[in-house]
Amino acid sequence: MSAGAAEQDPFSAPFGSLFGDRMTLATLEPGSGYRYPGHAVALENLSLHPGTHALHYASACFEGLKAHRQADGSLAIFRVDDHAERMVQSVQRLSMVPPTAELVRTMIVDAVEANASFTPDPPGSLYIRPTLIGTLVNIGAAAAPSDSGFLYVITSPVGDYFAGGIRPLTIHIETEIPRTTPQFGMVKSGANYVMALGPTLDAKRDHAADQVLFATGGDVTETGASNFFLVDDDRLITRNLDESFLHGVTRASVLTLAADLGYEIEERSVPLDELEAWVDHGEAFLSGTAAVLAPVGTITIAGDRLQVRDGQPGANTLRLREALTDIQLGRADDPHGWRTPVEG
Ligand SMILES: Cc1ncc(COP(=O)(O)O)c(C=O)c1O
Repeated sequence: MSAGAAEQDPFSAPFGSLFGDRMTLATLEPGSGYRYPGHAVALENLSLHPGTHALHYASACFEGLKAHRQADGSLAIFRVDDHAERMVQSVQRLSMVPPTAELVRTMIVDAVEANASFTPDPPGSLYIRPTLIGTLVNIGAAAAPSDSGFLYVITSPVGDYFAGGIRPLTIHIETEIPRTTPQFGMVKSGANYVMALGPTLDAKRDHAADQVLFATGGDVTETGASNFFLVDDDRLITRNLDESFLHGVTRASVLTLAADLGYEIEERSVPLDELEAWVDHGEAFLSGTAAVLAPVGTITIAGDRLQVRDGQPGANTLRLREALTDIQLGRADDPHGWRTPVEG
């Protein structure tokens, strides 16, 4: 049993620090593609040569999705195909041999079934982490992709991403340092996250911020781990997609649900000036697999602290959050086919 997941409470342990005790693992061998035995194995340490490509040249990427205990006691994964496809896209950007989305999906389903008993009841869930690392042993291969690798799926019983449940967050706006490079923004690669770490730690220390909202040159995009929205009673606004930031699956879900509920949708650039004016009357929130929908209560920018309306979670944010979680948790119909039922 790793990290005592069976005994520890996912609601008090830090998000992602407990693990289910099984994993699925496939190996990529040069010239012969991915080999997956077709079942989960015990979660064990990986043995890596110190000259492994991923450790030196960041040939690594991952996904993050969740399985939720349903209202009827069954278990379902949320939007598994979309996450599998995004994983394939990330691997392509690393210039490694991509697995098929079908293989990634199968390995996710098998890993969830093998760890189903670790799933906490809502608002907890089983967080799922598909991962690929390049295992070529060559410290001279800075300009060559890894032609071998480990593709694996591990799971983590989780409570709330933001300690304290639904509470209005404080976000700091960073206008100078970008989150990552423009061509890698849509890749879920660890290097992106370490690039965002410095500004995030500074914002936590200097502005008591929960997250940094990156708005390079005044162009509001995303935070270090979630997408960003403005909403009022009529309209939902978010940055239009390009390669510079992550195409969130939650973002896509919120846009679909908001359209279903009759909101006018605006996917376009969001200038910083507009955001500053918006918060007098409108709401702002973050979206992500981990964050779900998290209301923003305060924005700090260049030494100023702006309160978002009355600083409390807004009615539209809570309405959209509920529409999303109702589908995730099987409390509502699934008109868009987002739930995949699994054994357990
Ligand atoms: C940088 C970044 N943006 C946005 C998101 C939200 O994406 P999703 O809704 O697919 O979890 C995430 C989380 O995965 C992220 O890491």
